[in-house]
Amino acid sequence: MSGLARDGPAIETRQLYRRFDSRKGFLFREMTRTEALKGVDLVVERGAIFGLLGPNGAGKTTLTKILSTLLLPTSGTALVLGHDVTRETDWLRPRMGLVLGGERGLYNRISGRENLRYFADLYGVPIAGRDARIREVLERVGLTDAADRRVEEYSRGMKQKLHIARGILHRPEILFLDEPTIGLDPKSARETRKLIRSLVTDGVTIFLTTHYMFEAEELCPRLAILSKGRIVARDTVDALRALVGGDRTLEAEAYGFDDREVDAVRALPGVSKVVTEEFGPMMRLTLRVRTGELTLDQVRGRLPGHAELAVRERRTSLEDVYLDLVEEEAR
Ligand SMILES: Nc1ncnc2c1ncn2[C@@H]1O[C@H](COP(=O)(O)OP(=O)(O)OP(=O)(O)O)[C@@H](O)[C@H]1O
Ligand SMILES: [Mg+2]
Repeated sequence: MSGLARDGPAIETRQLYRRFDSRKGFLFREMTRTEALKGVDLVVERGAIFGLLGPNGAGKTTLTKILSTLLLPTSGTALVLGHDVTRETDWLRPRMGLVLGGERGLYNRISGRENLRYFADLYGVPIAGRDARIREVLERVGLTDAADRRVEEYSRGMKQKLHIARGILHRPEILFLDEPTIGLDPKSARETRKLIRSLVTDGVTIFLTTHYMFEAEELCPRLAILSKGRIVARDTVDALRALVGGDRTLEAEAYGFDDREVDAVRALPGVSKVVTEEFGPMMRLTLRVRTGELTLDQVRGRLPGHAELAVRERRTSLEDVYLDLVEEEAR
C-alpha cells in the first residue's frame, strides 16, 4: 500500500448522494422517491471508533452499505482506506468487515464453527491457518464452548457475537458495525462493547451506528450526527456539548412558571438556551449553561415564591446534544 493511503483518513466522502426509487401498488403504479443521502461530506480518522448517530430513516444503514461496497451511491465519491468504494472493490473487500444487526446472514442448521469455516472459504482465508484462526476468533468473542452447537440453538446475543466473529475472521483493517448491540440484554451488550473496544487496540478502525447514546459516549471519541440524509454535526462529544450551548445543564422544577420568570432565568449570565416542558401539573425549565460562575442559588433567586421549587445540575449528556441538534434540523 502506498504511504499516502496509509496516512490518509480511513473514510472520506464527498457530496455523497443516494436516491431510492420504488414503485407502489399493482394496477396504478405510483413512483415514490426517497433521498436517503443528500450530499454527505465526512472524514473519519484511522484507528479509533467513529460513531454515527441519527433518527430512524436518517440514512445510517444506507451510508454504511455504500462505504462497505454493498450499495452504489447515486453520485459523489467515497474513499475507504484511500480507495474508491465503487471502482476498487477487489482491493477493498478483503480489508473490510461488515456486521449488520439482526438475525439474518447466518446458517442456522450448522454449528457456529461450521458457519465460520464457510465464511473463511468465502473470504479466501488460507486453508492452512484457517481452523486455528477460527478457534482464535471464537475465543475472542466468547463462543468457544458453544462453537459446535447448531446456530438455531443460539440466543440473540450469541448470534450477534458470531456475526462479529464473521466480521473479523479475515483480519479486516476497517470494520463497519450497524447497531451492534440492538436487542441485546444489558450484560450481553456490555460484553459486546468490551469486545468492540478490544478490536481497536489491535489497530482496527471501527465505524459504528447506534441508537444508544451512552454507548456512543462510552465508545466513540468522535462522532457525527446524520439527520435526513445530511451530516448536521461532527466532532468530539465535548465539542458537541459546546455546540449546543455548554456542558452544564441546570433544571428547575415547580408547579408552573410565568413568562416573566422564564425571561428572568434566560437573562442570567452564561445561559445560552432555556427549554420549557410541562409534565402533569409540574413545569420544568432546562437551562444550557456555558460558564462555571452561574450558581443554583442565582437561579433560585430568579424564581421566588415557589415553595416546592427544585433546582439541580447535571452534565449536558450526549442525549441532550443529540435531541437539540436533531430538533434544530427538524425546524
Ligand atoms: N432499498 C430501499 N428502497 C427504498 N427506500 C429505501 C431503501 N433502503 C432505504 N430506504 C429509505 O432510505 C431512507 C434511509 O434509510 P436507512 O435504512 O439508511 O436509515 P437508518 O438511518 O439506517 O434508519 P434506522 O435507524 O431505522 O436503521 C429511509 O427513508 C428508507 O425508507
Ligand atoms: Mg439502519
